[in-house]
Amino acid sequence: MEFRSVEYMEWAKLRSAAAVNLSQSGVTGLSLKDLPIGLDGCDINGDHPYGYPPLLEAIASRSGTVPDAVVPSLGASEAVFLACAALLENGDRVVVEKPGDEPLLSCARAMGAEIHRWERRFENGYGLDLRDFEASVPDGTKLVLMTNLHNPSGTFLPRDHIRALAEGARRKGAMVFVDEIYLDYMDAAHSRTSFGAADNIFTASSLTKVYGLSGLRCGWILAPAPLARKLRRLVDHLFVVHVFIAEQIAARLFPHLDAIRGRNRALFEANRRMVRDFVASESRLSWVEPPAGILAFPRVEGPLDGNGLADVLMRKYDTSIVPGGFFEAPRHFRLGFGVPPDVLAKGLANIHAALAAHI
Ligand SMILES: Cc1ncc(COP(=O)(O)O)c(C=O)c1O
Repeated sequence: MEFRSVEYMEWAKLRSAAAVNLSQSGVTGLSLKDLPIGLDGCDINGDHPYGYPPLLEAIASRSGTVPDAVVPSLGASEAVFLACAALLENGDRVVVEKPGDEPLLSCARAMGAEIHRWERRFENGYGLDLRDFEASVPDGTKLVLMTNLHNPSGTFLPRDHIRALAEGARRKGAMVFVDEIYLDYMDAAHSRTSFGAADNIFTASSLTKVYGLSGLRCGWILAPAPLARKLRRLVDHLFVVHVFIAEQIAARLFPHLDAIRGRNRALFEANRRMVRDFVASESRLSWVEPPAGILAFPRVEGPLDGNGLADVLMRKYDTSIVPGGFFEAPRHFRLGFGVPPDVLAKGLANIHAALAAHI
């Protein structure tokens, strides 16, 4: 195992802040006073080494599965790590989507896996071309790592496409891990987990992005029983108990999650229209419009690529977007538009000015 630095994470933690910040992929964080629950009776210590049963039940019931399939994790970040550590050994073949979230790639790499890539193509709306996908998955592949909604583009793969992809992966011997941390940006009809769509799929999510509850570190994996057992054995290497106070708060919040995610829906729709009009008015930008959520991954034509644009915006306009290079797509930039409309308008005006100054 070799742990190299994760460039994007370091940038996001230390260098992404700006007066106009369009680099965020989650909603504004909630504080205790915003929560629709009381905290009476919450305590520090509980004796639930494999997770607080009411929370496991709440996750299972919201996901249409059983508590035995739920492995709690410290956010989706730990879930990605556990998925790689449980399935990959030195030299194992793994397929990672591209463009993609750097930790998926860096975790697989840290396990010593042989990395292969599935290109999700801009020209194809970042969707699934099954033949292309199967051609990217060598025989004997252990694991395919992907996101839905796709990070960075925010695009959605319907459940039946993920099933088809998983069947293709199974023909090569692979499990498919779907990081669904952004999936709940979709409406209730489209945010059903792909866990259970095929028996070689397992998934992860958390309350971070869509619900503004990052600090609870409430994440989970949904996995078929044998894999869930293996993941629990892996957690035995890490800690004895979970963060009980956070588990209790999360369990109490589950009945309110739909109301919490509904709060911002109208704002995000209006902001997406603002971004759509903006992209249409900028001859050097093109994009695949995401169906929901707050992420987009526009492409830039001309002398400045997405990395250059991000650099100019940060230096001259105190404006932050995510350079596409962090997702191995330097012509692009990731735009997080889940901000108040006036902030978005200011950020888009700054992008326009930066593009206009570099003809
Ligand atoms: C695809 C993806 N997975 C996981 C995470 C981290 O999730 P969490 O805050 O739940 O650990 C992120 C955050 O940037 C992400 O984009």
